[in-house]
Amino acid sequence: MNYQKMCEAADYMRPLLPETPKVGLILGSGLGDLGEKLEEPRRIIPYGEIPGFVCSTAPGHKGRFICGRLSGVPVLCMQGRLHCYEGHDITEVVLPVQVMRLLGVETLILTNAAGGVNLDFKVGDLMLLEDHINFMGRNPLIGKNAPEMGPRFCDMSYTYTPALRKLALEAAQRLGISLRRGVYLATTGPSFETPAEIRAFRTLGADAVGMSTVPEAIAASHCGMKVLAFSLITNMAAGILDQPLTEEEVIEIGQAKGQELQKLVLDILAHLPQA
Ligand code: HPA
Repeated sequence: MNYQKMCEAADYMRPLLPETPKVGLILGSGLGDLGEKLEEPRRIIPYGEIPGFVCSTAPGHKGRFICGRLSGVPVLCMQGRLHCYEGHDITEVVLPVQVMRLLGVETLILTNAAGGVNLDFKVGDLMLLEDHINFMGRNPLIGKNAPEMGPRFCDMSYTYTPALRKLALEAAQRLGISLRRGVYLATTGPSFETPAEIRAFRTLGADAVGMSTVPEAIAASHCGMKVLAFSLITNMAAGILDQPLTEEEVIEIGQAKGQELQKLVLDILAHLPQA
């Protein structure tokens, strides 16, 4: 963990921000246009401009920070995240989360596109993450610990903050949005899973599978951030339906059903307790 690198990136960004952001948002495939809804004062900072940052190359990911307000709350939004499958080291994938923390962000909201593993799920469902299984074979906290950020051995018992999950369920009820709850299992990708892997993951207790979110949730937990995360089920995982999986369906469903998730996030922000 390179604390100096985090500080350099934060020092670069701090003077560019109109105010201290309270909430960080990482928007997944097809969900990035929530960033367009940010209210003034707004600033855009492309990742490529920030010292030590790498650019995102994934489809549907823009690769920039937008700072502004959503539901009146100062937010810092990552429009496009970094993934291990792009070839980035997992420490590079989580660097933006650590930088957000140094910039004052206390709460991180993560969204992703995921395959439904739970046979009761349907395409277009939204799932609130209650927990995760790290099947990436790597951990962003490996290496020298930065005690300024958090402890060497970081507790993961309450990673997805119970109070925020309660708030999300209340928001869903208010809006009449049905919200599944479940466990997200992360692989590195980029190949989708095999049907046998999906059967195995179901046995392990996974409800959804994807290629992101877990590194960011681990890094956020480590540095004491509250975390809330949602999956949009863009497809049923491999082998459940008698059809191949395509990248296009992930993007299409993300765009079509992403609006509901956006409404949910806006309502949650409007009801966040003032710190
Ligand atoms: N598997 C892994 N990642 C995904 C999937 C999937 O089925 N759908 C969207 N992201």
